Amino acid sequence: MKPLLLFFLLLPILAVPTVQGANLELSQMMTGLGANTYSLGEALEAGDLSRAQVMAERIVNHPQAGPAVLKVVKATLGKEMGSFKGFDDRTHLAGEALIEAAKKGDLPSAQAAFGNLAAGCAGCHQAFRAKVAAALAEAP
Ligand code: HEC
Repeated sequence: MKPLLLFFLLLPILAVPTVQGANLELSQMMTGLGANTYSLGEALEAGDLSRAQVMAERIVNHPQAGPAVLKVVKATLGKEMGSFKGFDDRTHLAGEALIEAAKKGDLPSAQAAFGNLAAGCAGCHQAFRAKVAAALAEAP
């Protein structure tokens, strides 16, 4: 992630039109997911289910990756695309379960759903993150 970080730091100075690149787009989406997941964990730790619900809703309704990202991901993963999608589905289902548990005031179920959600994030990262990041970094 270091070159990307440098890129972010230089962004205000350079203001180059390539800012719309696929890599930046997915990376930004993930950064948002990371921040919301962190806040979600904090809310659950504090037993604050209404805040947890808001954060889980943000995660479930996160902005979708655009066509440029999808094209690179599909070309890179080929037959593994189903597995990639499976991690995405798992994360979304866990997020939905967490929202339902929060609505019911059921903290233990919300915490269990958080475990599933985090496993979805971590599973995809372990299997695909490096590969996809490398492919996106080379994409125009
Ligand atoms: C279906 C696969 C998949 C799932 C599910 C997934 N990620 Fe990611 N994540 C990626 C990929 C691929 C990258 C690398 C993106 C890049 O470098 O361009 C990434 C990168 C990241 C980064 C680093 C962003 C950066 O560039 O600094 C964070 C933070 C992150 N993900 C958080 C999360 C969280 C939190 C979840 C679960 C709520 C999650 N991700 C779920 C595939 C996934």
